[in-house]
Amino acid sequence: MESLETWMRTTLASVRDLTPTIRLFELQPPARRPAWSPGAHVRVRVAIDGRPAVRRYSLIDDGSDDGRLRIAVKLAENGLGGSRAMWALRPGEGVDISAPENHFELGLAAPSYTLVAGGVGITPLLGMARCLARTRRPVRFHYSVRNREEAAFAELLRTWLGEGFRLHAEDESGRLDFAQIIEPIPAQGELYLCGPIGMLEAARAAWQAGGRPASLLRYESFASSGHYANQSFTAVLPRFGRELQVPAHQTLLSALEEAGIEVLADCRRGECGLCAVDILACDAPVDHRDVFFSDDEKAGNRKLCACVSRPAGGRIEIDTAYRGPVPA
Ligand code: FES
Repeated sequence: MESLETWMRTTLASVRDLTPTIRLFELQPPARRPAWSPGAHVRVRVAIDGRPAVRRYSLIDDGSDDGRLRIAVKLAENGLGGSRAMWALRPGEGVDISAPENHFELGLAAPSYTLVAGGVGITPLLGMARCLARTRRPVRFHYSVRNREEAAFAELLRTWLGEGFRLHAEDESGRLDFAQIIEPIPAQGELYLCGPIGMLEAARAAWQAGGRPASLLRYESFASSGHYANQSFTAVLPRFGRELQVPAHQTLLSALEEAGIEVLADCRRGECGLCAVDILACDAPVDHRDVFFSDDEKAGNRKLCACVSRPAGGRIEIDTAYRGPVPA
């Protein structure tokens, strides 16, 4: 179920590779650029193997003031197909986008801010960094990348934040040490994070271990990042008498929708929990990619968020919350 939204046809004005795997897309709106605040995203209509799909991308504020909207997309060769579809776009093509929405708002009342980005998770945090730097609020920015080549916007951040910016290249210094990052944050200081699921889990665990209030940790996840590579699997729905083959490039939610099986959904990025289905049995590890369920709930393997989570191959028996007539 897609929420009501307004779509606008933009023109892809230009593309530019920021790193070997991250491409910047500059979209020219038909009229005035819609207003948006740091942390906002747009939904983008794409065609994956001829099928319509929608992807969300954070809006980038790199300080440009030319009326364009900017998004960046990391190419995931083994992903669900959205990034490949985006990378196939050429300047001059039309791109349908929604009005900007923001579920990752920057509050402006904290005594200090710590921003942590993992890879392409830099995109929503760039505008936050700019806003905090311009308003002279105390900010530390930790940017973790696989290697320095993958550090998009690092120079810009260095210019804006000076000593407050720290680049961590995993191939040089390993993964981020969240206990170390969190320790100097004052009691009411806020942490904003955007990165892959493993990074979110590490941050949440350290935040909790440090006795910090959950409300001061704000994050946004990549719907596509998991602990296992995407694999095809079989979803069995005994109540519907159906068996679905879900290919590697499709989510369980979209396979259910395509089969006419009703599932509630809203965020489609593992945050709201609305699309949760019951797991009746599964013969493969379940790759929980949501940030909705607790670690204990994930370990219990009784439910999964169909929009992002999936088994690592094999066969999973599930039941949905839908109790209406069984589709033909
Ligand atoms: S739709 Fe929100 S968690 Fe799946």
